[in-house]
Amino acid sequence: MSGLATVRDVRVDDDLDAVMALETSIFGSDAWHREMMRAEMINPNCRYLVAELTNAPVVVGYAGLLCPPGSGDGDIQTIAVSPEMRGQGLGREMMTELLAEAQRRAATRVFLEVRADNAVAQALYRDLGFIPVGVRAGYYQPDDVDAVMMRWDLGPSGRPGSQSPGDEMEGAC
Ligand SMILES: CC(C)(COP(=O)(O)OP(=O)(O)OC[C@H]1O[C@@H](n2cnc3c(N)ncnc32)[C@H](O)[C@@H]1OP(=O)(O)O)[C@@H](O)C(=O)NCCC(=O)NCCS
Repeated sequence: MSGLATVRDVRVDDDLDAVMALETSIFGSDAWHREMMRAEMINPNCRYLVAELTNAPVVVGYAGLLCPPGSGDGDIQTIAVSPEMRGQGLGREMMTELLAEAQRRAATRVFLEVRADNAVAQALYRDLGFIPVGVRAGYYQPDDVDAVMMRWDLGPSGRPGSQSPGDEMEGAC
């Protein structure tokens, strides 16, 4: 990453306003409501991260994982970086930490959904080892955009691999 920002665990009371400001400006009609975001952040089955400027208490990104211990599966629930801080490795850093967290919780598969028209996010996910495993037609409304479902498998070597498209899909992003 650039060194301009640091990734840390969310502190709900301190960070929720800033996360919601990013959420509504970035996702528009797809944005989560504040109470849903708060419920996610305090859910012990989740882990939420923020990226904060190193020289000022300004949140410039966030990402969340749902991964109940023992379930074997995780879901990337959301990820976003403020437009002026994109392309500096923050998205990759947050995703890498959430995949490591899923492994610590003994998950062997992590799912997500991404808009079919979001080439940038799909490129990031593919680069991390996610593979597309299906499409949900018209999932994002009112825009009527398909969702591409992607899955990351932890192979027997302990590294992403041994993927086989076509299993039942879960996850949301
Ligand atoms: C998707 C998103 C979180 C990526 O965050 P980011 O901090 O810009 O990503 P990074 O700088 O870590 O880049 C990681 C990879 O993403 C891809 N990527 C990033 N910017 C890209 C661009 N402009 N064009 C193509 N690929 C791009 C590349 O694969 C890149 O790897 P590289 O740097 O080795 O080339 C960010 O673009 C974002 O917030 N988008 C809006 C919200 C969103 O779409 N969230 C995902 C919902 S599923």
